[in-house]
Amino acid sequence: MDSSINKKIDVAILAARQAGKIILEKLGNTAFSDKAKSNLVTEADLTAQKTITDCIRKHFPTHGIFAEEEALLLNKGAEDLWIIDPLDGTNNFAHTIPHFSISIAYTRAGQVVAGVIFDPNRDEMFTAVKGSGAFLNGTSISVSEARSLQEAIIATGFYYDRDLMMRKTLETIEKLFEANIHGIRRFGSAALDLCWVACGRFDAYFEYKLSPWDFAAGMLILEEAGGKCTDHMGNPLNLKSKGIAVSNGQFHQEFLNIIRWN
Ligand code: IPD
Ligand code: CA
Ligand code: CA
Repeated sequence: MDSSINKKIDVAILAARQAGKIILEKLGNTAFSDKAKSNLVTEADLTAQKTITDCIRKHFPTHGIFAEEEALLLNKGAEDLWIIDPLDGTNNFAHTIPHFSISIAYTRAGQVVAGVIFDPNRDEMFTAVKGSGAFLNGTSISVSEARSLQEAIIATGFYYDRDLMMRKTLETIEKLFEANIHGIRRFGSAALDLCWVACGRFDAYFEYKLSPWDFAAGMLILEEAGGKCTDHMGNPLNLKSKGIAVSNGQFHQEFLNIIRWN
């Protein structure tokens, strides 16, 4: 492993912990505004983002930063680029539901090399470095052993769209139930959905539209935990993908056959 990657992981962990502390302190302060209909932004999103970007810039001033709020893009064109969701699960946060996370990915030449996702409510820190496995609070994690859809509990999410994409998601949920899955969960943080597949709590997860900050760190964590990541059509997942389909790899084709949608 490239030894300089350790510093990147350490800085990402530090930044995620600092942001987590701030977000928890603000939990219960429910003032929010609408970025777009039902897509909320709170003071916690903005403060957490500033905390993370300040921390990364302090340690890596020449690196690029691409972060969700206000579509922040610093040092455009830099080969080293950090992709950040300062608060994934804002809707939960705004309703004082304790399930949200901070997601930080370090990419080099367009490839995710390190990822950190922190769940401040459970004090769970998920980490991965490409080629070196995935960890939860320092202990190695791996995906579940469910062998078929019939043994699977599946997570999903809804983009803020309330039209076709919402109806397609609902139709797919119905088809999954018809395939006799164990159950569906919609917990509200895509980054944690990916981590929970990585550590075997969920067996699969799909969502028809995400942004790179939602899944950049999570896709590496999941791959390093032995999971399978594609887009919802079955193509290899990359940072430009929109839809996402991930699983423990044991029934991925069966899963795609149900969720595939153009
Ligand atoms: C959202 C969450 C949610 C997912 C949405 C995302 P945000 O991110 O990850 O689970 O269903 O598609 O946009 O807005 O809370 O950062
Ligand atoms: Ca998000
Ligand atoms: Ca967010």
